[in-house]
Amino acid sequence: MLDWGERGGRIHNLQPYALCLIGLTALNSIRPPSSAPIKRVLVILYSQTGQLTRIVDSILEPLRQDSGIDVHVEHLRPVTPFPFPWTFFSFLDVFPESAHLVPPQMHSLALTGDEDFDLVILPYQVWFLAPSQPMTGFLKGALAKKLLAGKPVVTVIGCRNMWLLAQEKMKDLLKACGARLIDNVALTDPSPTMVTLLTTPVWLLTGKRDLLSALPPAGVDDASVVAARRFGLALCDALHSDAERGAAPLLAGLAAVDVDARLLFSEKMATRSFAVWGKLLRAVGEPGQARRRPLLLLYVIFLVAIILTIVPVSLVVQALLRPFLLGRFAALKRVYEAPSGSGRERMALYGR
Ligand SMILES: Cc1cc2nc3c(=O)[nH]c(=O)nc-3n(C[C@H](O)[C@H](O)[C@H](O)COP(=O)(O)O)c2cc1C
Repeated sequence: MLDWGERGGRIHNLQPYALCLIGLTALNSIRPPSSAPIKRVLVILYSQTGQLTRIVDSILEPLRQDSGIDVHVEHLRPVTPFPFPWTFFSFLDVFPESAHLVPPQMHSLALTGDEDFDLVILPYQVWFLAPSQPMTGFLKGALAKKLLAGKPVVTVIGCRNMWLLAQEKMKDLLKACGARLIDNVALTDPSPTMVTLLTTPVWLLTGKRDLLSALPPAGVDDASVVAARRFGLALCDALHSDAERGAAPLLAGLAAVDVDARLLFSEKMATRSFAVWGKLLRAVGEPGQARRRPLLLLYVIFLVAIILTIVPVSLVVQALLRPFLLGRFAALKRVYEAPSGSGRERMALYGR
């Protein structure tokens, strides 16, 4: 939560509606912590490069400092660890199972499923336009169904910039667990799409974010990671007022997501191709088997051809048709930005 010093320092710049909100928020924060039951927050985490861990740490910092909130973090561990940095073939070889949501074998977590959490935070990275395999492995397991049934869930995505259809898959996985998705935060690489299509694979295949010194470093920028603290501040206040029990998002007005609806066309096309080629590859062999390699090589040629032709062409065509598509894009943006939205009206309260 914001302390009184921070709030007081900002008051002169704030609009009247923000002052009302501050009043309400402050009332919540002066409630003695001892009179309220401790709120329990579960976080299920997996991160290869540490990017998602940094985002989550930034969000969790205010919750960890709040004596009225108990944060429990569980780390996902696949039985066969995914490599980092990736080799060329190990990277490609995970696409069939990722796209088809085939769960990898996972080590057990230190939970039984009988624990009771008030809020669950599910951070995940996108792998081939689907939730990463470790997260899929967790969500398809029996424990997730016990832990998540009826629980409010906040998803936090850290990825390159294509997450729209992964989040649709996530919604289905959460629905199968009986969970209630109340918020979604998505942090992405701020560089242009065509730049990240080069810098991200270089990062993932070499382990170096800034190997290409002429281009910006790959990944979510540090300023966005630090600014993610605002979500933690808002969650603290929401938990103190039992807002997680309701259906309304807790992170609205905080620029939780910003959807570029133009990428939806590329995502839909790539998802279709992942589904078809993924099925073929799964018929040829198991993950890691050498007999998949010739087909993987063929697919990567197909994929690069698509990235170099269809993606830029679709972006140019959409730019030309922009005046006619504005209404359609705005409607799609609203749909895919739900439930938290891209509004900024509470940034003055919780933003830096
Ligand atoms: C196998 C693989 C596939 C990926 N596919 C996508 C993707 O489809 N869309 C996207 O925006 N990012 C994609 N990424 C980038 C990740 O979402 C993420 O930003 C990066 O792996 C760092 O995550 P970390 O927290 O695990 O280190 C992919 C990464 C990997 C390793």
